[in-house]
Amino acid sequence: MSKKGKIGIFDSGYGGLTVFKEILKVLPEYNFVYLGDNARAPYGSRSFETVYKFTLECVQLLFEKNCPLVILACNTASAKALRTIQQKDLPRIAKDNRVLGVIRPTTEVIGQYSKTKHIGIFATEGTVKSESYLIEINKFFPDLTVHQEACPMWVPLIENNEHLSDGADYFVKKHIDRLLQCDDKIDTILLGCTHYPLLMPKLQQYIPSSIQIISQGSIVAESLKDYLSRHPEIDIRLEKNGLREFYTTIESEWFNEKAEMFFGEKVDAQKI
Ligand code: DGL
Repeated sequence: MSKKGKIGIFDSGYGGLTVFKEILKVLPEYNFVYLGDNARAPYGSRSFETVYKFTLECVQLLFEKNCPLVILACNTASAKALRTIQQKDLPRIAKDNRVLGVIRPTTEVIGQYSKTKHIGIFATEGTVKSESYLIEINKFFPDLTVHQEACPMWVPLIENNEHLSDGADYFVKKHIDRLLQCDDKIDTILLGCTHYPLLMPKLQQYIPSSIQIISQGSIVAESLKDYLSRHPEIDIRLEKNGLREFYTTIESEWFNEKAEMFFGEKVDAQKI
């Protein structure tokens, strides 16, 4: 058995930091490596082939950084690349390593939040078109009525720190109206993109307070904790010194400047 390693957390850019922050609350003792592929973000409007290729490259980088367990903290990558990586690539490149996504853990519990059994999902175009949420939710909550709304402008607004500006209102309201117009029984809205929690103040402004808005960070964090308790063979391969490393594919100063907004504390990233 090789030396112990870290948990890798991957996102196309900054969004995964909203998940990482929640993971640290429940698993602070583990060592982590975060990788944001900011130079090639956003992934949301890219083809299946491109998202798969970029995600696989980043997963391999995290394997090289000694991460036997990698979390795709990105819905788009989870929707478009996870299954192929798990089924086709892992057995070939690193059969003892594990790659997990954020869609499955979210769909395992999302039905518990809704009383009306009508939910809405905001996500990137790629996630919506993949229908991954519809397929997975149907396995766990077949009685749930699910409406999806793709919000292609939200990630660029957030990545450019324009999401709370007055100009953002048009794009926020447009998608809320569209979603709520198609089903007036919706009582729960899932933010199916790890960037979207940053829009919470604007969402709360336009979404009626009777509708609950769910971010997936804490759901994914609890699920990872549970996974590690059920998989001691993986857990035993992980270092526990509370260390964190951050990597990005853009200039590290740019990343550090914005990362704090997502992570809630300063980070010191290296360009890779
Ligand atoms: N944060 C990512 C997600 O959860 C994707 C953002 C993007 O690159 O479009 O889907």
